Amino acid sequence: MIRIRFQAAVAAAGLLLASAALTQEPAPRPVATITQLMQAMIIPASNALFNVPRQVPGDDAGWDAVRNQAVILAESGNLLMVGDRAGDSGVWMETSRALTDAGEAALAAALARDVDAITSVGDQIIDACERCHEKHWIR
Ligand code: HEC
Repeated sequence: MIRIRFQAAVAAAGLLLASAALTQEPAPRPVATITQLMQAMIIPASNALFNVPRQVPGDDAGWDAVRNQAVILAESGNLLMVGDRAGDSGVWMETSRALTDAGEAALAAALARDVDAITSVGDQIIDACERCHEKHWIR
């Protein structure tokens, strides 16, 4: 009798665990290394924005491309904050957020086709890169 109750309890606990696992939402799952994020997204996107004052887009397609690079840069700041990528809760999170803020400002400037605004956002971007690298890029 006791044994049957025990088995029933184990079965019930198993069911509970299984349903807990089933109802768990999928979470972000970081794939790339930090270097890969730099190479695939952050370096090309920031270069494209730095280049705007020297090579001002002359048509819609050119501005669309600048807008897309601003989107990539803004969202890459969020990716730097995901999972165990965060190097610490201080400078790492602050400069990742600064990258997202700068990317958002670049996006607004790209939508307004405002070259002066993109030029000054460039300084904001470089500041975020440098402040993180100073602490976290051990060379
Ligand atoms: C939140 C921190 C952080 C921010 C912000 C950041 N980086 Fe990095 N970056 C790193 C780290 C950490 C490494 C070194 C990764 C390693 O060696 O494992 C790195 C590496 C690099 C590298 C070397 C890549 C290679 O091929 O080895 C370049 C170039 C670079 N970053 C450019 C940038 C630029 C440009 C920006 C801004 C637009 C930027 N980074 C913003 C953390 C950051």
